[in-house]
Amino acid sequence: MDDLTIARAIHVLSIVHWIGGMSFVTLVVLPLARRWVVAGQRLTLFEAAERRFSTQVRLSVPLAGASGLYMMARLDAWHLLVQPSQWWLGAMALLWLVFMAILFVIEPAIGSKLLKAGYSDPDRTLWRVERVHWFLLAVSAVVAGAAVLGAHGGLG
Ligand code: HEM
Repeated sequence: MDDLTIARAIHVLSIVHWIGGMSFVTLVVLPLARRWVVAGQRLTLFEAAERRFSTQVRLSVPLAGASGLYMMARLDAWHLLVQPSQWWLGAMALLWLVFMAILFVIEPAIGSKLLKAGYSDPDRTLWRVERVHWFLLAVSAVVAGAAVLGAHGGLG
């Protein structure tokens, strides 16, 4: 087994953890928290689950990027980033940058302040958080699907 195959396995595993975890938060934790019988605990429930996941994803997202960059270097594929037919490569990198910014810049800077302010109207806050999660999940699913198709010659 060569280093490229190992890097691809690390890449896919990191993405399974990251996007799979985000699916769970979006499709299970958030709807559950919004319908939780004790209204005063709804936001706390989401916050506790999200905190646990965000600690883990701070490992899987950098690992996805490192293994992706390793493959780019190994395949000497940098020139493909500007080829319109290989748009899925740029889309992967862009999505990764967005999540790195959310996890390492935006969340530490304003995440807890936003949530604290959200306790004045927890139901509205949870609804907003769920919509943002839905948007990020939909974009991630499209990019992941396109990446599999693109990597195996399915996008022309
Ligand atoms: C800095 C960020 C990233 C870089 C540099 C990168 C780079 C790469 C490279 C070079 C490949 C191999 C292409 C080939 O074999 O021809 C690949 C495959 C793949 N990437 Fe990324 N990637 C990044 C982020 C992402 C993200 C955010 C996702 C998920 C949304 C993703 C999902 C995938 C998938 C599903 C494959 C196909 C694996 C396979 O079926 O063989 N990547 N990536």
